[in-house]
This record gives sequence, structure tokens and C-alpha cells, in this order.
Amino acid sequence: MDFFKENAPAGPDSWEKLLADCGGCMKCELGRTRHNLVFGVGSRTADVMFIGEGPGEQEDLKGEPFVGPAGKLLDVMLELIGLDRTQVYIANIVKCRPPRNRDPLPDEQAACIGWLERQIDLVQPKILVFLGRIAAMAFIKPDFRITKEHGQWFDVQGRRAMAMYHPSALLRDPSKRPETFVDMKTLRQEIDSLYD
Ligand code: URA
Repeated sequence: MDFFKENAPAGPDSWEKLLADCGGCMKCELGRTRHNLVFGVGSRTADVMFIGEGPGEQEDLKGEPFVGPAGKLLDVMLELIGLDRTQVYIANIVKCRPPRNRDPLPDEQAACIGWLERQIDLVQPKILVFLGRIAAMAFIKPDFRITKEHGQWFDVQGRRAMAMYHPSALLRDPSKRPETFVDMKTLRQEIDSLYD
């Protein structure tokens, strides 16, 4: 997708360059209302990268992804398969909080997603996990159906990719949790297969 190219670096990329380029970003309206830009967190050499939708209130205040209630649940999900947030990389489709936690608009996603693309290129994860419909639609396919297609493997730019329910959806509707338990086990198997 061409909008990935818009935030592309001039020469070879580095974390320092990316942070310098992205740090003061005002490419969309969300830059005006943020307290902090929420860049990403975790291992810069992770095999698995989790990609959410956009920062919420707590994330905006702390400048770190998934530190609010949904983040606490993500920690539990990781623990289920023997991981913690230091072993994976976590980022979002947009780096600034949408007002009242609304879905990020298409032009906000388009302005921001190139930063995430550069993070993916730097981390070089083997597996991408999209949390929720918005992230899956941005990377897997525009008509992605989270209820039908969560837990299935796709190819995204040569990487194994899967979507699962967003932890916020699991907080709203705990009846979806067993399906996510199965998806996490599927993810564990895929991680294990990397080392076979
Ligand atoms: N929801 C997201 O999609 N990302 C966060 O960082 C927090 C909540």
C-alpha cells in the first residue's frame, strides 16, 4: 500500500531515526489533542508483534501501549502461553489517542501507519498478531470479519499473521474469552514451530 511509503526514511532506517522522525508527528488532527505519542514497547528483536488499534486514556497519559484495563487483560493472555510483554513487541495502528476512544478514521490511519511499518521492518517479527477488527482490516484485508476469521493464519508481507478479539471486546463480552484462549494456544503452537 502506497501510504506506507509516505513516512519512509531517506536511507537505511534505525530506531534513532524513526524516533526522531515520528516523535513530534503532527500529520493528523490526533497530534493536537494527545498528551503523549504512544510509540511502542517491548523487545526490538521479538519474534511476535502485537498490533492494537490506538491508545486509550491511560496509554495517552503514560505514553505506553496497553497499560489500561485492556492492557491488563493482554498481560493475562500473554501469561497463558508463557510470555510477558518484555518478550514481544506491542504497538498500535495509530500512535495518538482518538477522542473518546472512537475508531481511528481512515485518513488518521493512513497518516500514521507508515511509522508502524518502519517499526515492523526494524523488529522483523516472524509473527504478527492483530488485536481487533480495525488492525486486521488495515493489514490483512479491508473486509476482514473478526467474528469469522479470528484465529486463522494469513500471509502479510511474507509474515505469518493472525487476528484475535481486541482485549477491550473481551472485557465487554467475556463470553468471547474461550475463543481467544484457543487463538492464544494456536499462536503458541506457531511460536513453538519456529524453533522446531
Ligand atoms: N487499545 C488499543 O488498541 N491500544 C492500546 O494501546 C490500548 C487500548
